[in-house]
Amino acid sequence: MTPRSILPAQGSSLPLPLDLGGRTALVTGAAGGIGRACALRLAAAGAKVRAVDRDAAGLEELAEAARGIAGAVEPHVLDLTDLNAAELAAAGTDVLVNNAGLQLVRPIEEFPPEGFHTVLTVMLEAPFRLIRGALPHMYGQGWGRIVNVSSVHGLRASAFKSAYVAAKHGLEGLSKTAALEGAPHGVTSNCVNPAYVRTPLVEKQLADQARAHGLPEERVLSEVLLQDSAVKRLIEPEDVAEAVAYLCSPHASFVTGTSLVLDGGWTAH
Ligand SMILES: NC(=O)c1ccc[n+]([C@@H]2O[C@H](COP(=O)([O-])OP(=O)(O)OC[C@H]3O[C@@H](n4cnc5c(N)ncnc54)[C@H](O)[C@@H]3O)[C@@H](O)[C@H]2O)c1
Repeated sequence: MTPRSILPAQGSSLPLPLDLGGRTALVTGAAGGIGRACALRLAAAGAKVRAVDRDAAGLEELAEAARGIAGAVEPHVLDLTDLNAAELAAAGTDVLVNNAGLQLVRPIEEFPPEGFHTVLTVMLEAPFRLIRGALPHMYGQGWGRIVNVSSVHGLRASAFKSAYVAAKHGLEGLSKTAALEGAPHGVTSNCVNPAYVRTPLVEKQLADQARAHGLPEERVLSEVLLQDSAVKRLIEPEDVAEAVAYLCSPHASFVTGTSLVLDGGWTAH
């Protein structure tokens, strides 16, 4: 019999009822794993989704996949290191999902300073600028939802991920501050914190992790990525998107300034 722990993820069940008809959502990193799932989920709830990414081909493919879904997906090709353009792009959005990210796995003494700068720019400074751009409209109408895709690495560190861990810890602080400022205006701000998700970001770091930890690549999943997770499998992007959907739902209007942790028990240690 196959042990439950190594079975693939559970099959998806029915999504939460959610009506975002008439709402505009902006999702960054929408061409990739979690962002793509969020864009499709919010469009399925009826939102008009501004799908932001630097990957034009990935956005086209997403728009194709979204055809026939209740809401619309509008591709918006943008490199988020252009912070002024990022802030402008966020104007007029009701739901903002700060999701774009990248990973670089190196010991600190070998970590390229320009790589550290890029990670902090895309994963912390761009979310600040996007929130800044989105708030005037949200405050004006007395409703808004900010969801920051953080990570278990917003709450815990792992060796060789200085930039990523620093950016995610910073994002947690930014999210809480936005929650305090937004509360009188009907705006919530929260993080979702997955452990390892089955996406290209994880696939791309296997070789780097193997090198940094001195392990063969095939042992990285079980001995590094899943080491601290009590549930020994990856989580699916759609499960993260469902958590994002919950935070946009009327039932979550009292949920703000918090972190919704989907980490298979990692932080229970
Ligand atoms: N995959 C995981 O295990 C995992 C776990 C926890 C948190 N996260 C977080 O989830 C988010 C999405 O990760 P993913 O796994 O879906 O990654 P992914 O690599 O599949 O997708 C990330 C997307 O961000 C885009 N992007 C990167 N830099 C950009 C830039 N400068 N401008 C515009 N777009 C840019 C990429 O083009 C890509 O489409 C990230 O913030 C990541 O830190 C991922």
